[in-house]
Amino acid sequence: MADIVASNRDRLLQAAVEAKTFAYVPYSKFRVGAALLTEDGEIIKGANIENASYGGTICAERTAFVKAVSEGKRKFAALAVTTDVASPIAPCGMCRQVIREFCSLDMPILLAASSYMEKEDGIRESTLGELLPFSFGPEDLEKDRG
Ligand code: THU
Repeated sequence: MADIVASNRDRLLQAAVEAKTFAYVPYSKFRVGAALLTEDGEIIKGANIENASYGGTICAERTAFVKAVSEGKRKFAALAVTTDVASPIAPCGMCRQVIREFCSLDMPILLAASSYMEKEDGIRESTLGELLPFSFGPEDLEKDRG
């Protein structure tokens, strides 16, 4: 794992836990917190924000990306995600595609169980490539057609 990720790992996981406290989940009661580490070592947090029109719900991961990118941050070194579930939970398909837009396939994605610090297998380390194999991304739009 890149140095920047290793040296910010605990901070990033803690930020995901903090982000979860702001989840707006009156319908599912399923809190999700995400934290994005930029290549400059900055951390951007996101929580899931639900809507009475359920389809308007925004996942925690996409909240974090939209916050970061809309403030000019587009280069990321890692993502951490946590929920209240006792085992690590992975991002939904739509979020994986949004991550694909901005991150390399080898970018670390840390999936943390609730109370991950008290568990042996509380953190599952994955990558975007593992979560979204044989994927479609921005470079595909540049390929020759015909
Ligand atoms: N959710 C996320 O925030 N991230 C995911 O990757 C999976 C699902 C949220 C959406 C909704 O508010 C709740 O979890 C239940 O689906």
